[in-house]
Amino acid sequence: MPYGQRYTNDTPILATHSDFSPMPTILISGANRGIGLELARQFAADGWKVLGTARDPDGAGDLKALGASVLPLQVTEQTSIDALAQTLANEPIDVLIANAGIAINLAAKPAEVTRADFLKVVATNTFAPLALAAAIKPNLLAGQMRIATAMSSLMSSISANDWATQYTYRASKTGLNAVWSALALEWAPLGITCALLRPGMVATQMTDFKGIDVRDSVAGMKGVVEQLTPADAGRIIGYDGTDVPW
Ligand SMILES: NC(=O)c1ccc[n+]([C@@H]2O[C@H](COP(=O)([O-])OP(=O)(O)OC[C@H]3O[C@@H](n4cnc5c(N)ncnc54)[C@H](OP(=O)(O)O)[C@@H]3O)[C@@H](O)[C@H]2O)c1
Repeated sequence: MPYGQRYTNDTPILATHSDFSPMPTILISGANRGIGLELARQFAADGWKVLGTARDPDGAGDLKALGASVLPLQVTEQTSIDALAQTLANEPIDVLIANAGIAINLAAKPAEVTRADFLKVVATNTFAPLALAAAIKPNLLAGQMRIATAMSSLMSSISANDWATQYTYRASKTGLNAVWSALALEWAPLGITCALLRPGMVATQMTDFKGIDVRDSVAGMKGVVEQLTPADAGRIIGYDGTDVPW
């Protein structure tokens, strides 16, 4: 369903970002470059308090220049996630975007897919968002908007896969969808809305800079995030507002 058509006159309008003073807080993983950096840029430009994570905070000059708080995070290490949660104790977080992700050897044929690559991609793209969300659950409960999102992909769709390839990446994002839709059910009674985002094919390092302009993708996703309501829990919503088929 097109994003702008989701609401009817009967839809209760919950608090939106503009209802909050001071402006809401967003935590973005992998915010030092690519989609994460642009998310940080656009939310910061709108006055949000941006908490951006980077594996190498000293190398995250672009993120720091936005006025964002730069926090160290290696998403595949539980000690790093726990340290982040400790640093953020008592910090209300309105929105999580679990954005950090990897793709390895997308063109690999079945016999070329290695166990090590497969497990590394799943650890980063599937397990880490869950571990991060679980670790900052108290922060989300302390926030007012209570939104937890993770970065999915059209490659997650089984029904839309008509060109094979990308075995590890597809599995990791389909798995993420499964994880996040379960989380959506688990956390709905707590008032936390869990939804998945699809950025489109975006020109970043991950795609060898092929695809749409990251500013357009992020502008679309920002609009989606700002208008999420509990009714959107478990959806996979594209930057253009359309749902990704399962
Ligand atoms: N670009 C696309 O077309 C596209 C399409 C669909 C979905 N996505 C998803 O969108 C998200 C962002 O992609 P992107 O295009 O911006 O990719 P990118 O330019 O390669 O950036 C990836 C980000 O994730 C971080 N990261 C990777 N592994 C990490 C780890 N173990 N711990 C902490 N941070 C880690 C990277 O940090 P370092 O700088 O330290 O490596 C970097 O900040 C990913 O989840 C990706 O799967 C992208």
